[in-house]
Amino acid sequence: MTWEESTKQKMLHLKLPTDPRWVRIAEMQIEDILVDHAYCEQKAASSCISLIVRFNELEELVDTLTPIVAEEWGHFERVLEQLRKRGMKFGPQRKDEYVAKLNEFVKKGGSRKDQLTEHLLLNALIEARSCERFKLLSKNIADLELQKFYYELMISEAGHYVTFIDLARKYQDREKVDRRWQEWLDYEAKILKSMEPRGDRMH
Ligand SMILES: [Fe+2]
Ligand SMILES: [Fe+2]
Repeated sequence: MTWEESTKQKMLHLKLPTDPRWVRIAEMQIEDILVDHAYCEQKAASSCISLIVRFNELEELVDTLTPIVAEEWGHFERVLEQLRKRGMKFGPQRKDEYVAKLNEFVKKGGSRKDQLTEHLLLNALIEARSCERFKLLSKNIADLELQKFYYELMISEAGHYVTFIDLARKYQDREKVDRRWQEWLDYEAKILKSMEPRGDRMH
């Protein structure tokens, strides 16, 4: 079974594919994409650290997410390296409209377990969409080194996606997780549809 087939089997599909125009405009603004991407990796590492601190009593969660923090930070370093070797500059963080809109969907209150589910699903969704975007870049851009780079990261983020879904199902009733996951997928498709594709953003 190919990697794509096995991921498809594990993966509950995103409901809306990325606008095909995105990859072309992203390629034209690759410096902006790399800077935005570096911050995506930083946020991925930071959000795993927050989960570890907040849910410190959950041993499996702590032990599963700790190496992912290191991996995401490794991705951050690798994105910086890609910028440097092209003579491009890192810069300030840009407004992340996509993640801001996803955050609005996080249900406030509920039990501690419910809060954990929300945050794990939010993370899973960002991983899934990043994985889809990395795949588009790896298949469509002319820069051979970046093709390979994005292919490798796509595999890594797909693994994280599965990890977040598995953790959600471990700590919460599976049916409840799966129902809420469908709501997250519907919401994500709706916000993505409402946003113009931008060549200077990873999402
Ligand atoms: Fe990453
Ligand atoms: Fe990731």
